[in-house]
Amino acid sequence: MIEVEENLLKIIDHNKIPNHVAIIMDGNGRWAEKRGKFRTFGHEKAIESVKETISVCRELSIPYITLYVFSSENWNRPKKEIDNLMKLLYVNLRINLEEIHEKDVKIIIIGEIEKFSRLIQKELLFFTKKTEHNRSGTLILALSYGSREEILRATKSIAKKVCENGILLKNIDEFFFRNHLYTKDLPDVDLIIRTSGEKRISNFLLWQSAYAELYFTDVLWPDFRKKDFYKAIINYQKRKRRFGSIKT
Ligand code: IPE
Ligand code: IPE
Ligand code: MG
Repeated sequence: MIEVEENLLKIIDHNKIPNHVAIIMDGNGRWAEKRGKFRTFGHEKAIESVKETISVCRELSIPYITLYVFSSENWNRPKKEIDNLMKLLYVNLRINLEEIHEKDVKIIIIGEIEKFSRLIQKELLFFTKKTEHNRSGTLILALSYGSREEILRATKSIAKKVCENGILLKNIDEFFFRNHLYTKDLPDVDLIIRTSGEKRISNFLLWQSAYAELYFTDVLWPDFRKKDFYKAIINYQKRKRRFGSIKT
């Protein structure tokens, strides 16, 4: 395994590292069910994959990584699964975010955090504040996040400014709009990775990934390891990004 990792690592071009990678961490439930276990078991196992992912970001100096942890639509799951997910989130937040802080990584939360319990919100705000001056990378956690909600929220906030502050329509350009998104201080996404074989975006970073490269793998999230992340980066580095132009 180590040899496979080392060989892949040798192929990676360190001058072509994506600036912002976003991951749809999917397949926890199926991973558990395949083993005859409850879905929650898969969510528990997912934590190890998150840790490996963050360690690759440090190793390759990927400046921004966004992880889709919980979507706006995930609130539609059975209450029991949501309760278990919230318990898992709460129990793991402090210890893991503290470790991330020790690595000098900044933590940013995107999504409707007011939908979480007061205890979870408190932890999230605590670590956002505590890590705000960290400089060795940025970890963005998408929690109760949905692009449509984000875009609607931005639109309402701009409409309010137009009505109350007399902002002129001609001044509402892309730059102005993006400054009203949760991701206002973050660069566009270069690479989206989705695990578990599903080939869809599921309401994730629709504005921010307008020109992202998409990479799909059949690996279920709890099985996602360093080598799988390396493969995604190598694949990304072979893409020709033209941004509508004709240069290669
Ligand atoms: C991703 O795994 C985790 C969350 C969406 C919270 P799933 O729970 O969606 O697992 P599958 O896709 O049902 O296997
Ligand atoms: C997307 O996975 C959300 C997260 C990974 C947090 P889902 O499992 O919720 O997406 P769908 O339902 O398959 O589109
Ligand atoms: Mg899923």
